[in-house]
Amino acid sequence: MITKFVFGNPFETGAVVETSEIVQGQLSDFMYETCESNENFIINIPLEKDEAIFGLGENVRGINKRGWIYDSWCSDDPNHDEDKRSLYGAHNFFILSGSVNRGIFIDFPGKITFDAGYTDKDMFTITITDGNFLVYVIDGDGMSLKEITKSFRRIIGKSYIPPRWAFGYQQSRWGYMNQSDIEAVVEEYKKCGIPLDAVYMDIDYMDSFKDFTINEERFPEFPKFVNEMKEQNIHLVPIIDAGVKIEKGYATYEEGVKNNFFCKDADGNDFVCGVWPGHVHMPDFLNAKTRKWFGDSYKVLTDAGIDGFWNDMNEPALFYSEKRLGETIDKLKSYNGTDYDVWEIFGLRDLVNDLANNEEDYRSFYHMATTDDGEIKVRHDKVHNLFGYNMTKAAAESMKDLRPNKRTLLFSRASYIGMHRYSGIWTGDNKSWWSHILLMINMLPSLNMCGFMYIGADMGGFGSNATEELVTRWVESSMWVPLMRNHAALGTREQELYQFKDKETFRRLIEIRYSLIPYLYSEFLKCHAKDELMYTPLAFEFPDDPFARECEDQLLVGESVMICPIYTPNSTGRYVYLPEDMTLVRMRAWNDYELVPYKTGHHYIHIGLSEFVFFIRKGKALPFANTASNTSKLDISTITLLRGIGGNYDNKGAFVTEMPDYELWWDDGESTDCPVEVINLK
Ligand code: GLC
Repeated sequence: MITKFVFGNPFETGAVVETSEIVQGQLSDFMYETCESNENFIINIPLEKDEAIFGLGENVRGINKRGWIYDSWCSDDPNHDEDKRSLYGAHNFFILSGSVNRGIFIDFPGKITFDAGYTDKDMFTITITDGNFLVYVIDGDGMSLKEITKSFRRIIGKSYIPPRWAFGYQQSRWGYMNQSDIEAVVEEYKKCGIPLDAVYMDIDYMDSFKDFTINEERFPEFPKFVNEMKEQNIHLVPIIDAGVKIEKGYATYEEGVKNNFFCKDADGNDFVCGVWPGHVHMPDFLNAKTRKWFGDSYKVLTDAGIDGFWNDMNEPALFYSEKRLGETIDKLKSYNGTDYDVWEIFGLRDLVNDLANNEEDYRSFYHMATTDDGEIKVRHDKVHNLFGYNMTKAAAESMKDLRPNKRTLLFSRASYIGMHRYSGIWTGDNKSWWSHILLMINMLPSLNMCGFMYIGADMGGFGSNATEELVTRWVESSMWVPLMRNHAALGTREQELYQFKDKETFRRLIEIRYSLIPYLYSEFLKCHAKDELMYTPLAFEFPDDPFARECEDQLLVGESVMICPIYTPNSTGRYVYLPEDMTLVRMRAWNDYELVPYKTGHHYIHIGLSEFVFFIRKGKALPFANTASNTSKLDISTITLLRGIGGNYDNKGAFVTEMPDYELWWDDGESTDCPVEVINLK
């Protein structure tokens, strides 16, 4: 059963779209203790001793979220360490799993704090910074974790499906400056025989970081270049940033000012802040007219043949506000070099550190949001978590006209539930840290729970310097991740796969990825259609198994596979828990592998650095195609089935081996209206 509780006059976020199963509850029915203090509304939920908390989408820490405090607040923060409370997305759905399971979604676009047993280990305290919000509760009749997730996914609507080429291997780096840098990347991959589908264009393709411009010195004949790349089956994916540079004569700026498309400050002037281009205005994405204008502006790139975009800096990231920068500089000028004590020096340092993403600045600008009641003025902090969502919705809606009946690759850094219908997400500026491989694995199921299916982390890590071993293990761990993009920050060690010594291993691994794409794509389509998880924690599938319930570093992927990635350095293997009998697959190359049956229980599995190891579930099959140098060259007629050892005892007590089939879901991989073909593989 799904019950909706309305508090005050909530802002319509667009998160929930399917309401037929939802019944309206009264505040008095609400089973938890609630109280109001100042502006805040607080919900206290007592936790049972072993109650687990699953969900909360993109976040730090493990699959079970109990024991920390999280803020729902889209944050531009490149240090994803354990003591952070929020990352780029705001995903307010979770399941409490104790003697019963109960799903809860707080639909509120401002800040919420989820104190999941941090202040009091036995209490879940949710603080909503306003009295206007919706709560959805999904529970009843011994509903399982999977059933609750499915119900939630049903009410938030179908997830975005990218074109099939977006399941190929993709290369990115902040620092490809011009056409020849990109050509060199493609050439190097070709030389090493490593398959490739896309290369990314970070901010340097633009003219002075101005959206919808192309630097003509660096890309003298851009449409021709896009086309030449297409002929080699390489898609170019440019970045689009949220802020619009303030510069006289720059068309996007002039149009925005003229039509009042930018957010305003308290005095009604266009709000001024700073991002990559220097001073910028922020488009008012909560306004439908602004969305239409901004989305249509992608035309300059789609006309050049571009069919994929990544939307960035859309929390929105504020390097500074003009006002705060001015005040800070004035204060700094007042320091005159005398002998300051430590507190004064710390104060000086804080002044500068507090310039970026300052919450006071988020309270200093306004939207004219389009609502059912017409346009209403809202202060940004009240709707903060909808900014990136609506930037991306703008692009997705315009793509329907700009690229009719064609799927466009689209993913965003900031997000809120609801945006999953328009695009995917990547998990932002992680680091080349071993712990961030595990963080990626932990986020996959919680993102799926919140509707996000086309997802991925920067493979190899964005910040910090990567090692060959780390990148190898990260490739193996990303083998099943839809968005398999190697991306790194300016100034870090180059980590394109050809930069390392053992190119042969990388070639073999990426070739395996291409052999697996039919399975990945087919499972993606199934989970999309059935509102199911593609990445399932063992706890969801085997809820009564105490080992499975606590397992944080293995996942089920689709219906046939369990993964057990290595995420620690200098490892030659790891412990794996099998909740049921499974078949180990050890691959050295796409056409060189062995299968070994294993019994339920704990095992130590050797996994050499260049080996790719996973398990096939009992009685299941995995379709596996001949590899290809590019997704366009994949041939599903080459598919064979790898089978998990499975079976049953017949009535005479003899073991009968099953030969499981696999239902492959397939379509043309590029049009929006192409029906799915179901192919029974035997
Ligand atoms: C942000 C993005 C990162 C990008 C960089 C430069 O940090 O998250 O992916 O490379 O900006 O555009």
